[in-house]
Amino acid sequence: MFSYRHAFHAGNHADVLKHMTLVAMLQYLTQKDTGLLLVDTHAGAGVYRLDQDHARTSGESEHGIYQLQVVADAARAAGQTVPEAVQAYLAQVAQFNHGSPVWRTYPGSPWISQALLRPQDKLKLFEVHPTDSKLLEKQVAELERGRQIEVLRRNGFEGLKALLPPPTRRGLVLIDPSYELKTDYAEVVTCLEDALKRFPTGTYAVWYPVIGRPEAHSMARKLKTMSSKLQRPWVQAELNIGLNPTEGVTTQAAQGRTPTTMRASGMHIINPPFTLAAQLRDALPWVTKALRQATGSGWTVEHGGH
Ligand SMILES: C[S@@+](CC[C@H](N)C(=O)[O-])C[C@H]1O[C@@H](n2cnc3c(N)ncnc32)[C@H](O)[C@@H]1O
Repeated sequence: MFSYRHAFHAGNHADVLKHMTLVAMLQYLTQKDTGLLLVDTHAGAGVYRLDQDHARTSGESEHGIYQLQVVADAARAAGQTVPEAVQAYLAQVAQFNHGSPVWRTYPGSPWISQALLRPQDKLKLFEVHPTDSKLLEKQVAELERGRQIEVLRRNGFEGLKALLPPPTRRGLVLIDPSYELKTDYAEVVTCLEDALKRFPTGTYAVWYPVIGRPEAHSMARKLKTMSSKLQRPWVQAELNIGLNPTEGVTTQAAQGRTPTTMRASGMHIINPPFTLAAQLRDALPWVTKALRQATGSGWTVEHGGH
């Protein structure tokens, strides 16, 4: 039923925005001792090879993590500062590559989360794709921290309900669908409304594509309206790399039946760390400049309810 495989897209510009934001949030949330529940409702396979089949075929990481690495290295060599959130994200990716300057491994969101997990925290990973959920289970089983992590081969929108509120009343939920089904757009909003009723103080982060598809078009606005209606603080950040349409990334996530070039995507965070908006405002101009492909690139960071 599902054909989306994140392995084709690992390390692309959308992953850069999503994972940089995830690292910043986790670093903040793990400062307080109380245990955290981390939930990834759409986990993917966990960790990816950038030098093999899928990623090499698509080449998307060339315009994402690889370009960011090259520009950051050049900036450091020239004695320039690299924004804190970018540095923290690059440090995570570097760690999975064991000091090698040539990065072959890319950590997906479950891998970033497990790396920052403390003994008192728990990680729940939902993944429905038969191949990717098996890969995820296998890779988690090999981890020392495996016992703190549970892989659930079921619908993350549904499965989230039973996990909220967490006993410690501290939690971060990442909602990162492939949007392969157009119903995903509406499901994200319904899922968040339900989750916020069960656990109003949890931190929720949603990734969404910014594309010219009717369901996607109003996504950013709907998420802002919903957060404000429920009187929750929010941050919304978008990154547009201004891809050249002739050599653009055609993502399965965004394509539906008609292939579409995805130039931009966004993160909407509800109950964000209070430092997040400032960190993203510091990082995104730099990231945009590092990744921009053509005219039309840009970034935004908005916030509300603070
Ligand atoms: C964009 S990928 C996830 C990438 C991952 N979060 C990361 O950042 O590394 C979306 C994943 O969700 C899975 N998926 C689709 N619908 C799902 C659902 N209802 N529940 C759980 N997983 C789902 C897909 O098989 C795909 O692997």
